Amino acid sequence: MRIVVGVTGGIAAYKAVSVIRSLVLLGHHVDVIATEHALKFVGAPTLEAISRNPLHTDLYEGVAQVRHVALGQQADVIAVVPATANSIARFAAGMADDLLGNTVLASRSPLVVAPAMHTEMWQHPATQANIRRLEERGTVIVGPESGALTGGDSGPGRLAETETIVASILTAARAAKRRAIEDEQARDLSGRRVLITAGGTREPIDPVRFLGNRSSGRQGVALAARALARGAEVTLIAANLEVPVPEGVSVVRVSTAQQMATAAAELAPRHEIIVMAAAVADFRPERVESGKIKKEATGDALTLTFTKNPDILRQLVAARVPGQTLVGFAAETEADDAERLEIARRKRERKGCDLLVLNQVGWHEGFQSEYNRVQIIDDSGSVLADHEGDKMSAADVILDAVVQRSLAG
Ligand code: CTP
Repeated sequence: MRIVVGVTGGIAAYKAVSVIRSLVLLGHHVDVIATEHALKFVGAPTLEAISRNPLHTDLYEGVAQVRHVALGQQADVIAVVPATANSIARFAAGMADDLLGNTVLASRSPLVVAPAMHTEMWQHPATQANIRRLEERGTVIVGPESGALTGGDSGPGRLAETETIVASILTAARAAKRRAIEDEQARDLSGRRVLITAGGTREPIDPVRFLGNRSSGRQGVALAARALARGAEVTLIAANLEVPVPEGVSVVRVSTAQQMATAAAELAPRHEIIVMAAAVADFRPERVESGKIKKEATGDALTLTFTKNPDILRQLVAARVPGQTLVGFAAETEADDAERLEIARRKRERKGCDLLVLNQVGWHEGFQSEYNRVQIIDDSGSVLADHEGDKMSAADVILDAVVQRSLAG
């Protein structure tokens, strides 16, 4: 993390040294900004040596690099340790007549403030009102703690312990990073129309029997849920799902491969991204009996003749509208990684889709499971991602690849 530690002018300034030292030892990059008053309590060489970086104090140094903006913009978090009553008042009012004030205003990173002052100053309504103003804006206030103060008296006003301050700084920074990632993801498919197929087709044999597969639709539904959360308009062609579809996804229910082919052909031209997660039966019984097939009529063996289903993905690739990104899936049972990848590469070439998501399936893997291993192959045969995790995280990895791909195209 990149952390800016602001040191303001109070007797507790010497304790900032141990906070900076802990952050540096944890591997973080620390830039220290000391106010003029802080340097009356702790020396510049100490702060430089401990932070392992040049100290920043003067607003008018390094003007060419617009340092107050650069430091604030690059920081994952800004912490003020200790924060005097005066500096708290200045942050609350949004004053910017020194480097620290400028940096705080120029930054959208979280601000962590660790106050230290005499009890009377801390409890003064002016300070309390300033603290509330900062809290309303999302500033994290750490401490102060109660204990012995410099003047020999005791009460609330003591700087919080080093470990408490360090933990608050890192928690605030991590939470902000997580939110930034979520916000970024929330936006990256906004306005995009995404068509997803999910589930397994069923090919009727007679009114009570079908030829099916073990796909539950979980991965396709997870893709729909994540695409929706990332701002897309999502249509799901759902074949015999075992899981509910999230609200907000528009659903077209089908059962057979032919029904799926018809729905996909109709919907595809209106969608920019198409993800074919469904397990589609390659064959269907040549004839569907109108009545239940009876044992007496078949004897000891039953022979059915199958005919080929349309290859939906290939049809969509052939009818592709410009700018469309098409993603195929391949569920393969080979245990050998290299062999599975080779099969997937050939399959992608055969199908002509932009990306192909390879799943390992077996009696216990892939189908029905909450977990999935996905390897994503692009049109050069490269593996863009190799991810193992729950189906929601797999969905995000797949959508990341789609977003990258469609931005590149
Ligand atoms: N697919 C399709 N139409 C079919 C069969 C498959 O659109 N009739 C799609 C699937 O949704 C998947 C991809 O094509 O995205 C690969 O499916 P798969 O069954 O592995 O492909 P096949 O060409 O049928 O290869 P295999 O011989 O291994 O079954």
